[in-house]
Amino acid sequence: MKVSIIGGGGRVGSDAAFALQCAGIVSEIHLLDANEKMAEGEALDLLHGCSIIGDQKIYAGGYDRAADADIVCITAGLRRKPDESRLDLINRNVSLFKQVLESLKGAGLKKDAIIFVVSNPVDILTRLAIETLKWEPARCIGLGTVLDTARFRSLIALETGLPASQIKALIIGEHGDSMVPVWSTAEAGGIPLTKLPNFNAVQQNKVFERTKKSGAECISLKGGAGRAVALSIAEVIHPIVLNQPKVLPVSSQLTGEYGVKGTCTSVPTLVGKGGVLKRFEIELWPREASGFQASCKALDATWGQIK
Ligand code: 2OP
Repeated sequence: MKVSIIGGGGRVGSDAAFALQCAGIVSEIHLLDANEKMAEGEALDLLHGCSIIGDQKIYAGGYDRAADADIVCITAGLRRKPDESRLDLINRNVSLFKQVLESLKGAGLKKDAIIFVVSNPVDILTRLAIETLKWEPARCIGLGTVLDTARFRSLIALETGLPASQIKALIIGEHGDSMVPVWSTAEAGGIPLTKLPNFNAVQQNKVFERTKKSGAECISLKGGAGRAVALSIAEVIHPIVLNQPKVLPVSSQLTGEYGVKGTCTSVPTLVGKGGVLKRFEIELWPREASGFQASCKALDATWGQIK
């Protein structure tokens, strides 16, 4: 299957292309960027590795080359400043994102293509993609809190000394300031994390706060995140390409789950060949449930500003 990465000359887009190349599961990777030279350079650099890692078709090209993509991954966007919240990005990125959508529409898209939004504010832009492209909502997903969940698990492992691969802990809601940690179901190897000795509520909260600020931390240290974002992007693309459904907290448009309709946000979602196969309503602690509702309200308030 073919993936077009719109923003493929940027840090996130090129890291995502490298993650897809190393996994060797997608057959074709097309990089598109406003900075055409950067897209060419990233594609060439990746192509040089094909003789070692695998025979994928990798190239740079314009919107006409996205017309036959099975998955169109949009990473294009301006980066947040360290002290800027993702939602503050909205005005700067909405107009850029609308141009991308218009260009995609103009060049044409496969009718069953999956539109995969990474650009921030990802929940708002996922909803904008559905409305602007008049796309089937199930085939328009956002990276949502897949990245936050990955960070959360890895930082819990760092704090507890447990293996990161065994940490099962979820973040739902906005990929942003109102994201919600789900401690009620967090466990490692069957051990509830809230019952773990030497991992008290203060430490739990410290890990969550660091998770929430991880994007800003990466920006201040290295100019912006790329690697874990790329692995999170691949984590979503592979179940679609392989048609091996996986439950992931991608952002998608809710149709009444948790009493929420129309908002794009992250809940446990079965992702496969057709995009969103099913969303799950899980039992939450009262503070988790109220946090999720507040997160949806924050997103709806922002959506109201741009609509
Ligand atoms: C982050 O949290 C880029 O939004 C992404 O780093």
